[in-house]
Amino acid sequence: MISRTDPARRGDGLSPTDPRLIGDPLEFIAADHLRIRAMCGELDRLAGAAHVTADEAAAMLSFLTEELPLLVADEDEDLLPLLMRRSTPEDDMPRLKVRLDQEHARINANLPEVIDSFETLAETGGAISDLMVYRLGDFAGQIRRHLILENAVMLPFARLRLTRSDLETLTRRMLARRGLDRMMERDDAQ
Ligand SMILES: [Fe+2]
Repeated sequence: MISRTDPARRGDGLSPTDPRLIGDPLEFIAADHLRIRAMCGELDRLAGAAHVTADEAAAMLSFLTEELPLLVADEDEDLLPLLMRRSTPEDDMPRLKVRLDQEHARINANLPEVIDSFETLAETGGAISDLMVYRLGDFAGQIRRHLILENAVMLPFARLRLTRSDLETLTRRMLARRGLDRMMERDDAQ
């Protein structure tokens, strides 16, 4: 199934994904995956840098604390449950869901130590320790492998199986998660 959205709208991954894309929630998630992949590249770059500035560390910290947990929650709490409901037995969705749940749990378990690594650097800048080089490389690799599975299997199944009403539910839930639902209601009322 070909997306109707121009891939150029997905952006370059250099800034947070445009929330206006949430009207097409699977397109937003695909764009967010590009953003996450770009930030994995930035994690690798910082891990190899002799010195990290406070601004670079603060930008990474903001991604790790504000953007990444929202996407994991979009998938865990909304997309995957909808997909489970709509999938057919031959989709083998329960097995995929177990694997994605495990990967999300591992990302969530490793996230605090990666955040912790950047907290001091975001104030003062500085050198990256050997422990941090290992942590960042491991975390970026883990996320990249996860995105490959989601882009190759989860998103194509979602495009195939979710109904228009499911997509509307997904949009509503993702807007609410970002505190944007009331803002949209105000816009509608004007
Ligand atoms: Fe995910």
